Amino acid sequence: MCGIVGYAGKRAAVDILIRGLKRLEYRGYDSSGIAFVRGDRIEIIKSEGRIDNVEKMAAKFAETSPGGNLNDVHFGIGHTRWATHGKPTTQNAHPHRTGHVVLVHNGIIENYQELKKKLVARGHQPQSETDSELFGFLVLEEMEKGASLMNGVRLAFDSVEGACSVVVMSERELGVLVGARRGGSPLVAAIDPEGGAILASDAQPLIDITREVIFVEQGDVVVGDSKGVHFFDLKSGAPIQRKTTRLDWSVETLSKQGFAHYMLKEIHEQPTALVDTFNGLLDLAKRGDPDPFPFADREVAKLLESASDIVLIACGTSWHAALLGKYWIERWAGVRVSVELASEFRYRQPVLAPQSLVIALSQSGETADTLAVVRQVNGLGNKTMGITNVRGSTLSREATAVLYTSAGPEIGVAATKTFSAQLLSLLIIAGHLGSKKGRKLEPVFDELLRVPHLLAGELAGTLASRAHAVAKAIAGYKGFFFIGRGYSFPIALEGALKLKEIAYVHAEGYAGGELKHGPIAMIDPNMVVVVLAPRDSWREKTLSNLEEVKARGAVVLAIGDPSDEALKQASHHWIALPEGARELDECWAPFFLSPVVQLLSYELALLKGTDVDKPRNLAKSVTVE
Ligand code: F6R
Repeated sequence: MCGIVGYAGKRAAVDILIRGLKRLEYRGYDSSGIAFVRGDRIEIIKSEGRIDNVEKMAAKFAETSPGGNLNDVHFGIGHTRWATHGKPTTQNAHPHRTGHVVLVHNGIIENYQELKKKLVARGHQPQSETDSELFGFLVLEEMEKGASLMNGVRLAFDSVEGACSVVVMSERELGVLVGARRGGSPLVAAIDPEGGAILASDAQPLIDITREVIFVEQGDVVVGDSKGVHFFDLKSGAPIQRKTTRLDWSVETLSKQGFAHYMLKEIHEQPTALVDTFNGLLDLAKRGDPDPFPFADREVAKLLESASDIVLIACGTSWHAALLGKYWIERWAGVRVSVELASEFRYRQPVLAPQSLVIALSQSGETADTLAVVRQVNGLGNKTMGITNVRGSTLSREATAVLYTSAGPEIGVAATKTFSAQLLSLLIIAGHLGSKKGRKLEPVFDELLRVPHLLAGELAGTLASRAHAVAKAIAGYKGFFFIGRGYSFPIALEGALKLKEIAYVHAEGYAGGELKHGPIAMIDPNMVVVVLAPRDSWREKTLSNLEEVKARGAVVLAIGDPSDEALKQASHHWIALPEGARELDECWAPFFLSPVVQLLSYELALLKGTDVDKPRNLAKSVTVE
C-alpha cells in the first residue's frame, strides 16, 4: 500500500509534499517522511506515526538550521507507509538513502531475502529492515557503473521480483525525479503549468496544481524535471507517449467541508453519489420503454447482454455489494450470478463457461487480489468488466470494459458512499438486463429517482440523531450481531464489518436463518443484536429471529419501518427508516439501511475514541495481497 509523491519545479516543494502525503494518508499511515534538496545535498526528515510529526519536524528544521527557509526548496519526494517488511519505526520509514540515491517505494520486493544476501555479500549495509532500501543499492550500483539515474532505475528492476512503484532522486542528478511502475502499484504524473512535474500514487496530490493528469502504465518510467515529464519504456528505455486525462474532481471535494470526519461527510454525500452515479451510467436521452436503464456506454451494455452468466468478484465491502447484486440480477434478469471473494477465486481452478462475464467490483480499482482475478480471467479468454470509482485506476484499464461509479473521492478508510454507488450500479445492471428480457421495470426506475431525496431528507436529521442516541445506550456491550434476511443480509455483513473496522468492537453479521446453526450459542445479556427488519418479504421470519435472541437475553436494536409498531415494541432500541421508504419496492431497503449502520458504527467509534478516518492497521487501497 503506502503513498508516494514527488515534485520538481518552481513551487515550494515541501509544502506540496506534505499536503500531498496528507491526501495519500489513506494508503497507509504508520510512518512517513520527506526528502528534499538544499544546495547540493538531499535532506531527509522522517518519523514513525502520522504525517503531522514530519510536518512539525520540517517546521523545526526551517527554524533551526542555517538558511533553513524551506520555501526555497523546489525539489523533493515523500512517502506515507503501511508496513509490510519491518516494523513501523523511524528507521524503516521512507525515504531511504543509499549513498547519493534517495528513494520512496510502494509495493513488495518478493525476492527480498535472496536480494539482501547478495547485496550484503557485495559490501552493502542496509540500515533498515525494509525491502525498499535494497532497491536503492541496486540503483546506486548501476549509477556507479556509469548509468544515468533513469537507466539505473530501469536496470535495478532486472534484479527485483514483484509489483512496485518507486520515485527516486540522486545527488548526482539534482533536479531530476525518476518514477517507475511495474505491476499493481499505481502512479500518476502531471506537468505543473508553472513549470515542473509532480508524481504521486493517486491524483489527489496533483489536483491543487492541475487537473490534467497522466496515468503511468505498468512498465513505464517517467522522468520529471522543471520542464515537465517524459515517458520511457521500462524494459527498452525507448521514449513513449502517454495520453493526458482531465479529472472531474475538484479541490473542494477533498476537504471535510465542516464535518468532523471525512467518513461522516461521505455518509452524508450518499444521496449526491447516487444521483451522480445514475446520471453517469445512463443515457437519459435513450430512456423509455422497453429499457428504462439504457447504459451510456454501449460496450458495457453489449458485454452484459451477451453473458451466459455473471461472476461478481470483489473483496471486503465491495464483496458485500456484490452479494446484493446477485439478489437483484437473479430476480429481474433471471441470469445466474455467482459471487466470489477475489482472494479465494484467484487460487482455485475456477470453472467458467465460454460466455461467463466476470465483473470485478473495486472502489479503488487497485485491490491486488481483484486485479489478479481480472488478469487471470483475461488470460482465460473470458470477458471482464470493472466497476470502480476511480477513473484511470488499474482496474479501469485492464478490464475489457469499465463502468464508473461517480461517488467522488472517498477519503475515509471505511467505504461508505462508494458502497451505495456500487449498489446502484448493480441494480442498474439488473434493471437493464431485466428490461432486455421483457420485464417492465419502469416503476423501479421511477422509484430510483425518489431514493436520494428520501435519504437526503432524513440523513442529516432523524437518522443521524437516532444513531447518536442509540449508540450511547449500547456502547458498553461486549459484542454485536447484525442479522438480516434477503436484501438485508449483505447489509448485516457490512454493518458488522464497519463496526469492527472503525470501532474495533467484536461484531458478526449473519443471515437470520443461520443463527440456530451455531451462532445463537453466543447470545447472552452482554450481546447486542442489531435486527435489520424493513417491511419486506422476509420481515416475519426476521421478527421470529428477533424473538429468539431476545428470549436468550440479548439487547435488541431493531431498524425498520417507522409504522412497524410490532417491531418497535419487540425491541429495546429502535431506529426508524425514512418515512416514505415503505412505499418503494423492497429492493431499495439496502440504500436506507446502509447509511444507518454506517452512522451507528461512526457514533460507536466516536464513543470509543478511535481514529475514525484512519483506523488502525488498515489502508484504503489494498495493493498487496
Ligand atoms: C471496508 C473497506 C474494505 C474494501 C476492500 C476492497 O470499509 O473499504 O473492505 O471494501 O478493501 O477495496 P476495493 O473496493 O477498493 O477493492
